[in-house]
Amino acid sequence: MAQRPSTTRRIVLAAQAVGLPTRDTFRVEEAALPALTVGQVLTRTLYCSADPGTRSRLSPGASYAPPLRIGDPIDGFAIGEVIESANSRFSVGDIVATGGGWAEHAIFPGRGYIQKVPHRRLPLSYWIGVLGVPGMTAWFGLKRVAMLKPGDRVLVTSAAGPVGATAAQVARSLGASRVVGTASGGDKAAWLHDVARLDAVIDYKTTPDLVADLKGACPDGYDVLFDNVGNAMIDSVIPLLRPGGRIVISGQLAEYNAAAGRVPGIVNTRYFIASRLRMEGLVVFDDLKGFPAAQEELGGMIESGHVNVREHRYRGLEAAPQAFIDLFTDSAFGRRIVEVSAEAGLGQAQ
Ligand SMILES: NC(=O)c1ccc[n+]([C@@H]2O[C@H](COP(=O)([O-])OP(=O)(O)OC[C@H]3O[C@@H](n4cnc5c(N)ncnc54)[C@H](OP(=O)(O)O)[C@@H]3O)[C@@H](O)[C@H]2O)c1
Repeated sequence: MAQRPSTTRRIVLAAQAVGLPTRDTFRVEEAALPALTVGQVLTRTLYCSADPGTRSRLSPGASYAPPLRIGDPIDGFAIGEVIESANSRFSVGDIVATGGGWAEHAIFPGRGYIQKVPHRRLPLSYWIGVLGVPGMTAWFGLKRVAMLKPGDRVLVTSAAGPVGATAAQVARSLGASRVVGTASGGDKAAWLHDVARLDAVIDYKTTPDLVADLKGACPDGYDVLFDNVGNAMIDSVIPLLRPGGRIVISGQLAEYNAAAGRVPGIVNTRYFIASRLRMEGLVVFDDLKGFPAAQEELGGMIESGHVNVREHRYRGLEAAPQAFIDLFTDSAFGRRIVEVSAEAGLGQAQ
């Protein structure tokens, strides 16, 4: 077996982002891998992901996680092989999903997010995608926050992204009577129609009348808005919600790069009274204890073909910043997965 590495390469914050992040926001550095202390685990990264939520940490501002400082490693989600363990729960050779971030090796510090991948029936990358945080956000957003009921009419924004596509398909599997999505571009619309089997897809970028299109796609109104994009969209949809309607605040893709003070407000609050509406956000880690059962059920939906998964892959650690920037600029879609090192070497290489 190869020697344990004493250093690794990782990506750190080079400059705080103003507006859209650029390649100069990040840099690659060599970092030491010190001896493990009790509870720690050393992993070799196989895959890491580009997550929109990282944007809120690249500049100062309100977020549920503190902003990164210059020189801090970018701590996204990763799938790794355990190559050294000082933690009785993990053995060399285990495959784990962690917050190990954009690095060729990572040390799990002993507490925080780590989950052993329980089986190999599905691609390993799914455990940082549809069976990881994005999928769990869709799952608990629908089940716990929206309290989805059979027959509900559901609107999902950024419907072609990993959270949105999972939410739309899970909603259908759980008995929604109509599922509508917003997405930009013909390729996404085609996939959402033909593969994910949504009832209607609206291109919010090209439509001359978004509200008319949203109404036309579901004339009786929506019971649930699963929103990934932010206030302007929510405000447009509020008047279209049926009595007892629920809004799930999952994310704010349209607002992450906005200058302070330039985020639109929500004005249609009067509908909350007459229609008894409810709006609630979620931080998916609040539902961590429920992940294994949800992953089992959602995994079954994938294996039976009821939930389809799309990935967009990048090769090599250096590609992680571009994968992240592309979230906001590129028309490709699906979970953005960076292949950091080969699965082929599992159990051998370090
Ligand atoms: N609450 C939680 O615990 C939690 C956990 C994980 C993720 N999230 C959130 O869930 C949301 C979706 O995440 P994801 O990983 O599935 O990402 P995603 O939807 O794939 O994000 C990329 C997509 O966002 C859309 N987008 C980018 N800029 C936009 C803009 N200015 N206006 C509207 N849409 C824009 C684009 O699709 P279109 O142009 O087709 O819309 C783009 O393809 C994010 O907001 C993320 O932060 C929340």
